[in-house]
Amino acid sequence: MRRTLLAAALSALCGAAAAQALTPPMGWNPWNAFHTEVDEGKIMAVADTLVASGLRDAGYRYVNMDDGWWRTRRPDGRIEVRTGMFPSGLLADGSTSLRPFVDRLHALGLKAGIYTEIGRNACSQAWDRHSPNLPEGTTAAREIGTFGHQAADMRLLLGEWGFDYVKVDACGLADFTPNQPWVRDGTHAAFGPWIVRGRPDAANSARVEQLYAGLRREIDAVRPRGDVVLSICTWGEARVAGWAGRYGHTWRTSADIEPTWKSMLHNFDTAAARPLYAGPGRWNDPDMLELGHGEFDARHPVEARAHLSLWAIAAAPLVLGADLTTMPRALLDIAGRREVIAIDQDPAGHQGVTVQRGADTQVLVRTLAAPGHKAVALVNRGARPRRVSVPLARLQMAPGAGARDAWTGQERTLGATLTVDLAPRETALLVLRGDALRPGHVLLTEIPARVRILGDGAAALSTAQAARWVPVQANAAPSGRPLKIGGAAVADGIGVLAGARVAVDLDGGFARFRSRAGTVAGRVPVTYRVLGDGKVLFAHRGTGVVGVDVPVEGVRTLELTTQGPDGKVVEVAWGAAELVR
Ligand code: GLA
Repeated sequence: MRRTLLAAALSALCGAAAAQALTPPMGWNPWNAFHTEVDEGKIMAVADTLVASGLRDAGYRYVNMDDGWWRTRRPDGRIEVRTGMFPSGLLADGSTSLRPFVDRLHALGLKAGIYTEIGRNACSQAWDRHSPNLPEGTTAAREIGTFGHQAADMRLLLGEWGFDYVKVDACGLADFTPNQPWVRDGTHAAFGPWIVRGRPDAANSARVEQLYAGLRREIDAVRPRGDVVLSICTWGEARVAGWAGRYGHTWRTSADIEPTWKSMLHNFDTAAARPLYAGPGRWNDPDMLELGHGEFDARHPVEARAHLSLWAIAAAPLVLGADLTTMPRALLDIAGRREVIAIDQDPAGHQGVTVQRGADTQVLVRTLAAPGHKAVALVNRGARPRRVSVPLARLQMAPGAGARDAWTGQERTLGATLTVDLAPRETALLVLRGDALRPGHVLLTEIPARVRILGDGAAALSTAQAARWVPVQANAAPSGRPLKIGGAAVADGIGVLAGARVAVDLDGGFARFRSRAGTVAGRVPVTYRVLGDGKVLFAHRGTGVVGVDVPVEGVRTLELTTQGPDGKVVEVAWGAAELVR
């Protein structure tokens, strides 16, 4: 009996574990400004600036140490801190600890983040070999990654030291293969590879997933209240979006950002293509903000605002990366713009979805929690001025909506179309409020946070496909081509690979589910099934267009599944997929 009670209490607590990062984490990380050449003084100076500038109160709470803090792993397994870098970490008895550092951040009303590695060796040991702050000692002593040490390391970082956030990188699984110079010369032991950069099909995704799953179990064992954010850093590799949301709160969707317009757009695109994977407690992470650096410095306010606007519409973590102590006030004000942050942090957690593309332009819309409110980003990606118009109907809104510019606060009333003139590289970010185009109808692409991907069928993709395709997309086919059924374009819908299983949380609030489904190209036999709480509500096998219209009264979880011929990659559209109240 006592056991059962204990188990029930534990599972209630584990349930609570998911209740972290219900909105995208916000904060600061030293990597982009300092790499491993950072120290406690620099970090605390930035922490003081976060407080004094008002950015802490605007939401930037997590101060996250990155690579470089470790000196060595002792023979007893415990990691020692580099106390030259963290002077407060040298205790009176000669041992080392990051607890004093964490306490200093907590005393400022901030949260503390730390960095570690899922493999044996860290990224700096492969890619920053000139760093003065690399781990020291024997080959084993320099293996400061969590591989083989998950339980002890989580007890140290999250239990003893009390960090609130842990970023877990993965170079140890990718960059220590026998042919790498730093392995051939005997500096590090060979490992894997379990991740092959740019080759998701060649990665051992299942083993990578198991490692992160194991780490999450250890995190929950140390911190059963679930008050730790786990940030998974496999740079979009190992088909991470397909599984990361079960263990982590954020996952990187791409390689490291650089302070260039091109890199920023590239990283944005990798997150923007995956709105159906995200929701409260599980966020696509296109990497840290480059505000203050390169093409986003004080001489580029248009680009800086665009960068933050794109992260906000994509519900991305907002982690600043510049040395805030020298950041001009104008840029601090951009970072702290409350109306933009409010869009990023909207509690409904629906990531923005692309509804229109033009030459160098893009329109994304994000359903907000307040009834009748939507955020819209109109993006000029190119170097020439552009006029962008989007019919309100494309945003599922009736004519006559009110619009407020999130940057200027300017208000206006719209007719049937929203038109903006954009300077080169400008993004307009607006909040619209008004009536729904078709009251009582909600497209699945309007509520991506309610969608959960149970299986995305990615394992079937060929090498070339695996590198570029996104298995479950909104308003596009997995290949990235426009969504079509039987040769005809479909404006709104979900594109999947046959074999995918997509769940939608209805919580009993809807009367019907409707869609026109079919294959994107060619006449391939596919079985379509709609399940309500596990019961088959609709099943059809055929090659043509399928009309689906099923009652879902009282259904909590809807499931959409498709099955094509074995071993064949088939793109399927759930066109105009909608719920009706
Ligand atoms: C990887 C990560 C970066 C940073 C460095 C540290 O490249 O993607 O964000 O943490 O490692 O070495």
